[in-house]
Amino acid sequence: RRVLSVASECAPLVKTGGLADVVGALPAALEPLGWRTRILMPAYPGLLERVGRTRRIWRDEDLFGGPATVRYCHFEGLDLLLLDAPHLYDRPGGPYVVDGHDHHDNHVRFAALSWVAARIAIDGTSDKWRPDVVHAHDWQAGLVPSYLKYAGSRVPTLLTIHNIAFQGIFGPDQLDALHLPTWDFHPEALEYHSLVSTLKAGLVHASRISTVSPSYAQELTREEFGFGLQGVVTMRRDRGELAGILNGIDTEVWNPATDPQINNYDASDPAAKAANRQALLNEFSLAEPSGPLAVVVTRLTHQKGVDLLLEKLPAFIESGGAVVVLGSGDPGYEYALGELAARYPQSVGLHIGYDEQLSHRMYAGADLVLVPSRFEPCGLTQLIGLRYGAIPLVAATGGLRDTVVDATPEHLADGTATGFTFSDIDAGGLGFALGRSVDLYKDQAAWAQLRSQALNTPVDWGTSAAVYARLFTELVS
Ligand code: ADP
Ligand code: GLC
Repeated sequence: RRVLSVASECAPLVKTGGLADVVGALPAALEPLGWRTRILMPAYPGLLERVGRTRRIWRDEDLFGGPATVRYCHFEGLDLLLLDAPHLYDRPGGPYVVDGHDHHDNHVRFAALSWVAARIAIDGTSDKWRPDVVHAHDWQAGLVPSYLKYAGSRVPTLLTIHNIAFQGIFGPDQLDALHLPTWDFHPEALEYHSLVSTLKAGLVHASRISTVSPSYAQELTREEFGFGLQGVVTMRRDRGELAGILNGIDTEVWNPATDPQINNYDASDPAAKAANRQALLNEFSLAEPSGPLAVVVTRLTHQKGVDLLLEKLPAFIESGGAVVVLGSGDPGYEYALGELAARYPQSVGLHIGYDEQLSHRMYAGADLVLVPSRFEPCGLTQLIGLRYGAIPLVAATGGLRDTVVDATPEHLADGTATGFTFSDIDAGGLGFALGRSVDLYKDQAAWAQLRSQALNTPVDWGTSAAVYARLFTELVS
Protein backbone atom coordinates (compact mmCIF):
# COMPACT_ATOMS: atom_id res chain seq x y z
CA ARG A 1 0.00 0.00 0.00
CA ARG A 2 1.07 3.55 -0.75
CA VAL A 3 1.01 6.79 1.23
CA LEU A 4 1.68 10.24 -0.16
CA SER A 5 2.94 12.36 2.72
CA VAL A 6 2.70 16.10 1.99
CA ALA A 7 4.70 18.56 4.05
CA SER A 8 6.70 21.77 3.97
CA GLU A 9 9.74 20.28 5.71
CA CYS A 10 11.44 16.93 6.14
CA ALA A 11 14.55 15.96 8.13
CA PRO A 12 17.39 15.66 7.34
CA LEU A 13 16.89 17.96 4.33
CA VAL A 14 14.92 20.93 5.65
CA LYS A 15 14.01 21.44 9.28
CA THR A 16 12.72 24.31 11.36
CA GLY A 17 11.15 22.13 14.06
CA GLY A 18 9.65 18.82 15.05
CA LEU A 19 7.42 18.57 11.98
CA ALA A 20 10.48 17.76 9.89
CA ASP A 21 11.56 15.02 12.31
CA VAL A 22 8.14 13.39 12.18
CA VAL A 23 7.79 13.55 8.40
CA GLY A 24 11.30 12.15 7.97
CA ALA A 25 10.98 9.34 10.54
CA LEU A 26 7.49 7.95 10.01
CA PRO A 27 8.14 6.27 6.62
CA ALA A 28 10.75 3.86 8.00
CA ALA A 29 8.41 2.91 10.83
CA LEU A 30 5.46 2.35 8.44
CA GLU A 31 7.39 0.32 5.89
CA PRO A 32 7.53 -2.95 7.88
CA LEU A 33 3.77 -2.58 8.42
CA GLY A 34 3.15 -2.72 4.68
CA TRP A 35 2.89 1.01 3.93
CA ARG A 36 5.39 2.62 1.53
CA THR A 37 5.63 6.39 1.69
CA ARG A 38 6.59 9.02 -0.82
CA ILE A 39 7.09 12.50 0.61
CA LEU A 40 6.11 15.52 -1.49
CA MET A 41 7.83 18.75 -0.50
CA PRO A 42 9.07 21.94 -2.20
CA ALA A 43 12.49 21.92 -3.86
CA TYR A 44 13.89 24.79 -1.81
CA PRO A 45 17.19 26.28 -3.05
CA GLY A 46 20.06 23.82 -3.04
CA LEU A 47 17.95 20.71 -2.41
CA LEU A 48 18.11 19.28 -5.93
CA GLU A 49 21.89 19.64 -5.90
CA ARG A 50 22.08 17.93 -2.51
CA VAL A 51 20.03 14.86 -3.27
CA GLY A 52 21.99 13.85 -6.37
CA ARG A 53 20.35 12.03 -9.27
CA THR A 54 16.65 12.72 -9.75
CA ARG A 55 14.05 11.72 -12.30
CA ARG A 56 11.18 13.85 -13.58
CA ILE A 57 7.83 12.20 -12.88
CA TRP A 58 5.34 15.04 -13.24
CA ARG A 59 5.09 18.44 -14.91
CA ASP A 60 2.81 21.39 -15.38
CA GLU A 61 3.41 24.37 -17.70
CA ASP A 62 1.55 26.72 -15.40
CA LEU A 63 1.39 26.04 -11.69
CA PHE A 64 -0.05 29.23 -10.25
CA GLY A 65 2.02 31.45 -12.53
CA GLY A 66 5.04 29.45 -13.62
CA PRO A 67 6.27 26.08 -14.85
CA ALA A 68 6.73 23.26 -12.38
CA THR A 69 8.12 19.74 -12.32
CA VAL A 70 8.18 17.07 -9.68
CA ARG A 71 11.42 15.12 -9.42
CA TYR A 72 11.71 11.74 -7.71
CA CYS A 73 14.77 10.62 -5.81
CA HIS A 74 15.79 8.14 -3.15
CA PHE A 75 17.76 9.96 -0.48
CA GLU A 76 18.98 8.53 2.84
CA GLY A 77 16.24 5.91 2.87
CA LEU A 78 13.47 8.34 1.89
CA ASP A 79 11.43 8.37 -1.32
CA LEU A 80 11.18 12.05 -2.07
CA LEU A 81 9.10 13.99 -4.58
CA LEU A 82 10.63 17.43 -4.88
CA LEU A 83 8.36 20.07 -6.34
CA ASP A 84 10.58 22.26 -8.46
CA ALA A 85 8.79 25.54 -9.16
CA PRO A 86 11.36 28.33 -9.23
CA HIS A 87 8.79 31.13 -9.21
CA LEU A 88 7.58 29.86 -5.82
CA TYR A 89 10.58 28.35 -4.07
CA ASP A 90 13.85 29.52 -5.63
CA ARG A 91 14.59 32.55 -3.48
CA PRO A 92 16.59 33.64 -0.43
CA GLY A 93 15.41 32.97 3.10
CA GLY A 94 14.00 29.94 4.90
CA PRO A 95 10.95 27.83 4.06
CA TYR A 96 8.53 30.42 5.48
CA VAL A 97 10.43 33.56 6.34
CA VAL A 98 12.91 35.96 4.78
CA ASP A 99 14.57 38.68 6.87
CA GLY A 100 12.14 38.09 9.72
CA HIS A 101 9.01 38.42 7.58
CA ASP A 102 6.79 35.78 6.01
CA HIS A 103 7.26 35.39 2.26
CA HIS A 104 4.46 37.61 0.92
CA ASP A 105 3.00 34.78 -1.17
CA ASN A 106 3.12 31.88 1.31
CA HIS A 107 -0.53 31.11 0.63
CA VAL A 108 0.28 30.63 -3.07
CA ARG A 109 3.46 28.66 -2.39
CA PHE A 110 1.73 26.10 -0.21
CA ALA A 111 -1.58 26.02 -2.07
CA ALA A 112 0.59 25.00 -5.05
CA LEU A 113 2.14 22.18 -3.01
CA SER A 114 -1.33 20.98 -2.04
CA TRP A 115 -2.62 21.28 -5.61
CA VAL A 116 0.19 19.14 -6.97
CA ALA A 117 -0.40 16.56 -4.23
CA ALA A 118 -4.04 16.33 -5.27
CA ARG A 119 -3.12 16.02 -8.97
CA ILE A 120 -0.72 13.17 -8.17
CA ALA A 121 -3.35 11.45 -6.02
CA ILE A 122 -5.87 11.69 -8.87
CA ASP A 123 -3.79 11.12 -12.01
CA GLY A 124 -0.69 9.39 -10.68
CA THR A 125 2.86 10.13 -11.80
CA SER A 126 4.59 9.26 -15.07
CA ASP A 127 6.30 6.35 -13.28
CA LYS A 128 2.85 4.89 -12.60
CA TRP A 129 2.68 5.63 -8.91
CA ARG A 130 -0.56 6.64 -7.23
CA PRO A 131 -1.21 6.77 -3.49
CA ASP A 132 -3.93 4.82 -1.69
CA VAL A 133 -3.98 7.45 1.06
CA VAL A 134 -2.75 11.04 1.37
CA HIS A 135 -1.28 12.14 4.69
CA ALA A 136 -1.30 15.94 4.85
CA HIS A 137 0.65 17.82 7.52
CA ASP A 138 -0.36 21.20 8.97
CA TRP A 139 -1.73 24.26 7.17
CA GLN A 140 0.82 24.03 4.37
CA ALA A 141 -0.88 20.85 3.16
CA GLY A 142 -4.31 21.82 4.47
CA LEU A 143 -5.85 22.32 1.04
CA VAL A 144 -5.10 18.80 -0.24
CA PRO A 145 -8.43 17.34 1.01
CA SER A 146 -10.34 20.32 -0.43
CA TYR A 147 -8.74 20.06 -3.88
CA LEU A 148 -9.49 16.33 -3.91
CA LYS A 149 -13.07 16.94 -2.92
CA TYR A 150 -13.65 19.65 -5.56
CA ALA A 151 -12.23 17.28 -8.18
CA GLY A 152 -14.66 14.56 -7.12
CA SER A 153 -11.82 12.26 -6.02
CA ARG A 154 -12.40 9.62 -3.37
CA VAL A 155 -8.78 9.12 -2.37
CA PRO A 156 -8.92 9.18 1.45
CA THR A 157 -6.98 11.78 3.41
CA LEU A 158 -5.62 12.19 6.91
CA LEU A 159 -4.79 15.71 8.05
CA THR A 160 -2.39 15.85 11.01
CA ILE A 161 -2.27 19.00 13.14
CA HIS A 162 1.22 19.60 14.48
CA ASN A 163 0.42 23.07 15.75
CA ILE A 164 -3.00 24.69 15.50
CA ALA A 165 -1.57 28.15 16.14
CA PHE A 166 -0.50 28.33 12.48
CA GLN A 167 -3.57 28.38 10.24
CA GLY A 168 -2.65 29.51 6.73
CA ILE A 169 -4.87 32.57 6.50
CA PHE A 170 -5.45 34.77 3.44
CA GLY A 171 -8.13 36.91 1.84
CA PRO A 172 -11.09 35.59 -0.19
CA ASP A 173 -9.96 37.71 -3.16
CA GLN A 174 -7.32 34.99 -3.70
CA LEU A 175 -9.81 32.13 -4.08
CA ASP A 176 -9.94 32.24 -7.87
CA ALA A 177 -6.21 32.39 -8.35
CA LEU A 178 -5.80 29.33 -6.13
CA HIS A 179 -8.46 27.31 -8.00
CA LEU A 180 -10.81 27.37 -5.01
CA PRO A 181 -14.57 27.73 -5.61
CA THR A 182 -16.25 30.85 -4.25
CA TRP A 183 -19.44 28.79 -3.67
CA ASP A 184 -17.69 26.96 -0.84
CA PHE A 185 -16.64 30.18 0.87
CA HIS A 186 -18.91 29.96 3.91
CA PRO A 187 -18.35 29.17 7.60
CA GLU A 188 -18.97 25.42 7.20
CA ALA A 189 -16.08 25.13 4.74
CA LEU A 190 -13.35 27.55 3.61
CA GLU A 191 -14.41 30.67 5.47
CA TYR A 192 -12.86 31.64 8.75
CA HIS A 193 -13.96 35.03 10.12
CA SER A 194 -14.36 36.46 6.60
CA LEU A 195 -10.96 35.10 5.56
CA VAL A 196 -9.77 31.74 4.22
CA SER A 197 -7.88 29.30 6.44
CA THR A 198 -6.17 26.37 4.75
CA LEU A 199 -5.96 24.52 8.07
CA LYS A 200 -9.67 24.93 8.64
CA ALA A 201 -10.39 23.77 5.10
CA GLY A 202 -8.41 20.62 5.81
CA LEU A 203 -10.11 20.06 9.17
CA VAL A 204 -13.48 20.23 7.42
CA HIS A 205 -12.65 18.20 4.30
CA ALA A 206 -10.15 15.52 5.37
CA SER A 207 -11.51 11.99 5.77
CA ARG A 208 -9.99 11.95 9.24
CA ILE A 209 -7.99 14.36 11.34
CA SER A 210 -5.34 13.67 13.93
CA THR A 211 -2.90 15.41 16.18
CA VAL A 212 0.37 14.39 17.74
CA SER A 213 -0.64 13.41 21.28
CA PRO A 214 -3.79 12.25 23.06
CA SER A 215 -3.77 15.18 25.50
CA TYR A 216 -3.43 17.78 22.74
CA ALA A 217 -6.36 16.12 20.95
CA GLN A 218 -8.46 16.74 24.07
CA GLU A 219 -7.13 20.26 24.54
CA LEU A 220 -7.88 21.24 20.94
CA THR A 221 -11.60 21.03 21.61
CA ARG A 222 -11.25 23.80 24.23
CA GLU A 223 -11.18 27.51 23.68
CA GLU A 224 -7.84 28.08 25.49
CA PHE A 225 -6.02 25.79 23.05
CA GLY A 226 -8.10 25.75 19.87
CA PHE A 227 -7.04 29.19 18.56
CA GLY A 228 -10.56 29.67 17.18
CA LEU A 229 -10.77 26.24 15.52
CA GLN A 230 -12.07 24.35 18.58
CA GLY A 231 -15.57 24.20 17.03
CA VAL A 232 -14.48 22.29 13.91
CA VAL A 233 -12.22 20.00 15.92
CA THR A 234 -15.02 19.25 18.37
CA MET A 235 -17.39 18.43 15.52
CA ARG A 236 -14.90 15.91 14.10
CA ARG A 237 -14.25 14.46 17.54
CA ASP A 238 -17.97 13.96 18.16
CA ARG A 239 -18.15 11.94 14.96
CA GLY A 240 -15.24 9.78 16.10
CA GLU A 241 -12.97 11.23 13.41
CA LEU A 242 -10.22 12.74 15.58
CA ALA A 243 -7.20 10.72 16.72
CA GLY A 244 -4.38 11.69 19.08
CA ILE A 245 -1.30 9.70 18.07
CA LEU A 246 1.87 10.32 20.03
CA ASN A 247 5.05 11.14 18.12
CA GLY A 248 8.15 9.02 18.49
CA ILE A 249 11.72 9.89 17.59
CA ASP A 250 14.13 8.23 15.19
CA THR A 251 16.11 6.09 17.62
CA GLU A 252 18.90 5.56 15.07
CA VAL A 253 19.53 9.28 14.69
CA TRP A 254 19.13 9.76 18.44
CA ASN A 255 21.14 6.93 19.93
CA PRO A 256 23.61 7.65 22.75
CA ALA A 257 25.19 4.22 22.18
CA THR A 258 26.32 5.07 18.62
CA ASP A 259 26.09 8.89 18.31
CA PRO A 260 29.37 9.97 16.64
CA GLN A 261 29.16 13.40 18.31
CA ILE A 262 29.63 12.11 21.87
CA ASN A 263 31.26 9.67 24.30
CA ASN A 264 28.91 6.72 23.88
CA TYR A 265 26.82 5.21 26.65
CA ASP A 266 23.54 3.41 27.16
CA ALA A 267 20.96 2.55 29.78
CA SER A 268 22.94 -0.38 31.14
CA ASP A 269 26.16 1.64 31.47
CA PRO A 270 25.62 5.42 31.57
CA ALA A 271 29.02 6.18 33.15
CA ALA A 272 30.33 8.00 30.04
CA LYS A 273 27.63 10.61 30.47
CA ALA A 274 29.94 12.32 32.97
CA ALA A 275 32.55 12.86 30.24
CA ASN A 276 29.91 14.42 27.99
CA ARG A 277 28.84 16.70 30.80
CA GLN A 278 32.43 17.83 31.35
CA ALA A 279 32.91 18.35 27.61
CA LEU A 280 29.80 20.53 27.45
CA LEU A 281 30.97 22.63 30.41
CA ASN A 282 34.35 23.04 28.70
CA GLU A 283 32.81 23.91 25.34
CA PHE A 284 31.00 26.85 26.94
CA SER A 285 33.75 27.68 29.48
CA LEU A 286 31.43 27.08 32.41
CA ALA A 287 32.48 26.32 35.98
CA GLU A 288 31.57 22.95 37.52
CA PRO A 289 28.14 23.57 39.07
CA SER A 290 27.21 22.05 42.41
CA GLY A 291 23.70 21.39 41.06
CA PRO A 292 22.30 20.02 37.79
CA LEU A 293 23.44 21.13 34.33
CA ALA A 294 20.30 21.98 32.34
CA VAL A 295 19.88 22.50 28.61
CA VAL A 296 17.26 24.23 26.50
CA VAL A 297 17.00 23.48 22.77
CA THR A 298 14.15 25.40 21.22
CA ARG A 299 12.60 27.95 18.97
CA LEU A 300 12.65 31.11 21.09
CA THR A 301 8.94 31.90 21.10
CA HIS A 302 6.13 32.68 23.52
CA GLN A 303 4.77 29.12 23.03
CA LYS A 304 7.96 27.68 24.49
CA GLY A 305 7.79 29.71 27.72
CA VAL A 306 11.12 31.46 27.18
CA ASP A 307 9.95 34.37 29.31
CA LEU A 308 9.31 31.97 32.20
CA LEU A 309 12.88 30.70 31.88
CA LEU A 310 14.24 34.24 31.88
CA GLU A 311 12.39 34.90 35.09
CA LYS A 312 13.38 31.72 36.94
CA LEU A 313 16.87 30.80 35.70
CA PRO A 314 18.65 33.30 38.00
CA ALA A 315 17.27 31.56 41.11
CA PHE A 316 18.15 28.15 39.63
CA ILE A 317 21.72 29.31 39.01
CA GLU A 318 22.04 30.85 42.46
CA SER A 319 20.95 27.55 43.99
CA GLY A 320 23.81 25.76 42.17
CA GLY A 321 22.44 25.01 38.70
CA ALA A 322 23.97 25.82 35.32
CA VAL A 323 22.33 26.03 31.89
CA VAL A 324 23.22 25.92 28.20
CA VAL A 325 20.70 27.40 25.78
CA LEU A 326 20.56 26.72 22.03
CA GLY A 327 17.90 28.48 20.03
CA SER A 328 16.83 31.27 17.78
CA GLY A 329 13.69 33.25 17.20
CA ASP A 330 12.16 36.29 18.84
CA PRO A 331 14.88 39.02 18.91
CA GLY A 332 13.66 40.21 22.33
CA TYR A 333 14.31 36.77 23.83
CA GLU A 334 17.66 36.48 22.07
CA TYR A 335 18.70 39.78 23.60
CA ALA A 336 17.47 38.92 27.11
CA LEU A 337 19.28 35.57 27.03
CA GLY A 338 22.43 37.40 26.00
CA GLU A 339 22.08 39.59 29.07
CA LEU A 340 21.58 36.53 31.29
CA ALA A 341 24.74 34.94 29.88
CA ALA A 342 26.67 38.17 30.48
CA ARG A 343 25.43 38.31 34.04
CA TYR A 344 26.40 34.67 34.81
CA PRO A 345 29.33 33.90 32.48
CA GLN A 346 30.38 30.89 34.60
CA SER A 347 26.92 29.35 34.69
CA VAL A 348 25.13 30.23 31.45
CA GLY A 349 26.20 29.04 28.00
CA LEU A 350 24.37 30.49 25.01
CA HIS A 351 24.38 29.71 21.32
CA ILE A 352 21.95 31.74 19.26
CA GLY A 353 21.31 29.89 16.02
CA TYR A 354 20.41 26.49 14.73
CA ASP A 355 22.95 23.71 15.25
CA GLU A 356 21.93 20.06 15.01
CA GLN A 357 25.37 18.71 15.98
CA LEU A 358 25.64 20.91 19.04
CA SER A 359 22.17 19.77 20.11
CA HIS A 360 23.44 16.17 20.25
CA ARG A 361 26.34 17.17 22.51
CA MET A 362 23.95 19.12 24.71
CA TYR A 363 21.47 16.26 25.22
CA ALA A 364 24.40 13.93 25.96
CA GLY A 365 25.99 16.26 28.51
CA ALA A 366 22.85 17.45 30.27
CA ASP A 367 21.36 16.40 33.57
CA LEU A 368 18.09 18.18 32.71
CA VAL A 369 16.18 19.31 29.61
CA LEU A 370 13.87 22.23 30.34
CA VAL A 371 10.58 22.48 28.38
CA PRO A 372 8.25 25.01 30.05
CA SER A 373 5.88 25.32 27.06
CA ARG A 374 2.54 27.11 27.39
CA PHE A 375 1.12 24.56 24.99
CA GLU A 376 2.87 21.67 23.28
CA PRO A 377 1.19 19.45 20.68
CA CYS A 378 3.75 16.73 21.32
CA GLY A 379 7.27 18.02 21.84
CA LEU A 380 10.32 16.05 20.81
CA THR A 381 13.07 17.53 22.98
CA GLN A 382 11.71 15.83 26.11
CA LEU A 383 11.72 12.51 24.20
CA ILE A 384 15.31 13.05 23.10
CA GLY A 385 16.07 13.95 26.73
CA LEU A 386 14.64 10.62 27.93
CA ARG A 387 16.66 8.79 25.29
CA TYR A 388 19.89 10.50 26.41
CA GLY A 389 19.23 10.31 30.16
CA ALA A 390 18.77 14.08 30.38
CA ILE A 391 15.83 14.32 32.77
CA PRO A 392 12.94 16.27 31.23
CA LEU A 393 11.50 19.08 33.34
CA VAL A 394 8.28 20.03 31.58
CA ALA A 395 5.00 21.90 31.79
CA ALA A 396 2.13 19.42 32.18
CA THR A 397 0.46 20.18 28.86
CA GLY A 398 -0.21 18.34 25.59
CA GLY A 399 2.35 15.74 24.64
CA LEU A 400 4.64 16.77 27.51
CA ARG A 401 2.01 15.55 29.94
CA ASP A 402 1.67 12.28 27.99
CA THR A 403 5.37 11.44 27.92
CA VAL A 404 6.87 12.44 31.28
CA VAL A 405 5.99 10.91 34.68
CA ASP A 406 6.55 13.30 37.56
CA ALA A 407 9.11 12.42 40.25
CA THR A 408 6.62 12.47 43.11
CA PRO A 409 7.56 10.40 46.17
CA GLU A 410 5.10 7.70 45.02
CA HIS A 411 6.44 7.55 41.46
CA LEU A 412 10.02 7.53 42.72
CA ALA A 413 9.14 4.68 45.04
CA ASP A 414 7.32 2.56 42.46
CA GLY A 415 9.94 3.13 39.78
CA THR A 416 7.72 4.92 37.23
CA ALA A 417 9.11 8.48 37.55
CA THR A 418 10.99 9.82 34.51
CA GLY A 419 11.13 13.58 35.04
CA PHE A 420 9.60 16.66 36.62
CA THR A 421 6.26 18.17 35.61
CA PHE A 422 4.40 21.29 36.72
CA SER A 423 0.74 22.07 36.15
CA ASP A 424 0.59 25.75 37.01
CA ILE A 425 2.17 26.93 33.79
CA ASP A 426 3.65 30.17 35.03
CA ALA A 427 6.91 31.38 36.53
CA GLY A 428 5.91 30.12 39.97
CA GLY A 429 5.21 26.61 38.67
CA LEU A 430 8.49 26.47 36.76
CA GLY A 431 10.45 27.83 39.74
CA PHE A 432 8.97 25.21 42.04
CA ALA A 433 9.86 22.37 39.64
CA LEU A 434 13.42 23.70 39.22
CA GLY A 435 13.74 23.78 43.00
CA ARG A 436 12.60 20.14 43.22
CA SER A 437 15.19 19.12 40.65
CA VAL A 438 17.98 20.86 42.57
CA ASP A 439 16.88 19.08 45.76
CA LEU A 440 16.72 15.63 44.17
CA TYR A 441 20.12 16.17 42.53
CA LYS A 442 21.66 16.33 46.01
CA ASP A 443 20.73 12.65 46.40
CA GLN A 444 22.93 11.21 43.66
CA ALA A 445 21.61 7.67 44.14
CA ALA A 446 18.03 8.83 43.66
CA TRP A 447 19.10 10.87 40.63
CA ALA A 448 20.86 7.87 39.06
CA GLN A 449 17.71 5.83 39.60
CA LEU A 450 15.54 8.49 37.93
CA ARG A 451 18.00 8.71 35.05
CA SER A 452 17.93 4.96 34.60
CA GLN A 453 14.14 5.04 34.39
CA ALA A 454 14.33 7.81 31.80
CA LEU A 455 16.90 5.88 29.75
CA ASN A 456 14.66 2.82 29.79
CA THR A 457 11.54 4.65 28.58
CA PRO A 458 10.56 3.63 25.02
CA VAL A 459 10.44 6.66 22.73
CA ASP A 460 10.57 4.99 19.32
CA TRP A 461 7.85 5.00 16.65
CA GLY A 462 6.79 1.38 17.15
CA THR A 463 3.42 1.72 18.83
CA SER A 464 2.34 4.90 17.08
CA ALA A 465 3.32 3.74 13.59
CA ALA A 466 1.00 0.77 14.13
CA VAL A 467 -1.82 3.17 15.00
CA TYR A 468 -1.22 5.18 11.80
CA ALA A 469 -1.10 1.96 9.77
CA ARG A 470 -4.39 0.77 11.24
CA LEU A 471 -5.99 4.14 10.53
CA PHE A 472 -4.78 4.12 6.90
CA THR A 473 -6.05 0.57 6.45
CA GLU A 474 -9.45 1.59 7.78
CA LEU A 475 -9.54 4.54 5.38
CA VAL A 476 -8.88 2.47 2.26
CA SER A 477 -11.36 -0.30 3.07
P1 ADP B 1 8.70 22.47 17.67
O1 ADP B 1 8.45 21.60 16.51
O2 ADP B 1 7.47 23.09 18.23
O3 ADP B 1 9.78 23.46 17.45
P2 ADP B 1 9.61 19.99 18.94
O4 ADP B 1 10.06 19.74 20.34
O5 ADP B 1 8.56 19.10 18.39
O6 ADP B 1 9.21 21.52 18.88
O7 ADP B 1 10.83 19.81 17.94
C1 ADP B 1 11.94 20.62 17.96
C2 ADP B 1 13.06 19.91 17.20
O8 ADP B 1 13.94 20.90 16.69
C3 ADP B 1 13.90 19.00 18.08
O9 ADP B 1 14.46 17.98 17.26
C4 ADP B 1 15.00 19.95 18.56
O10 ADP B 1 16.16 19.27 18.95
C5 ADP B 1 15.21 20.78 17.33
N1 ADP B 1 15.69 22.16 17.55
C6 ADP B 1 14.97 23.24 17.96
N2 ADP B 1 15.73 24.34 18.00
C7 ADP B 1 16.96 23.96 17.61
C8 ADP B 1 18.21 24.65 17.42
N3 ADP B 1 18.32 25.95 17.66
N4 ADP B 1 19.27 23.93 16.99
C9 ADP B 1 19.16 22.60 16.75
N5 ADP B 1 18.02 21.90 16.89
C10 ADP B 1 16.95 22.57 17.31
C1 GLC C 1 4.96 21.07 16.17
C2 GLC C 1 4.69 21.13 17.67
C3 GLC C 1 5.49 20.12 18.46
C4 GLC C 1 5.48 18.76 17.80
C5 GLC C 1 5.94 18.89 16.35
C6 GLC C 1 5.95 17.55 15.61
O1 GLC C 1 6.04 21.81 15.78
O2 GLC C 1 4.92 22.45 18.16
O3 GLC C 1 4.96 20.00 19.77
O4 GLC C 1 6.32 17.87 18.49
O5 GLC C 1 5.08 19.74 15.66
O6 GLC C 1 4.68 16.96 15.61
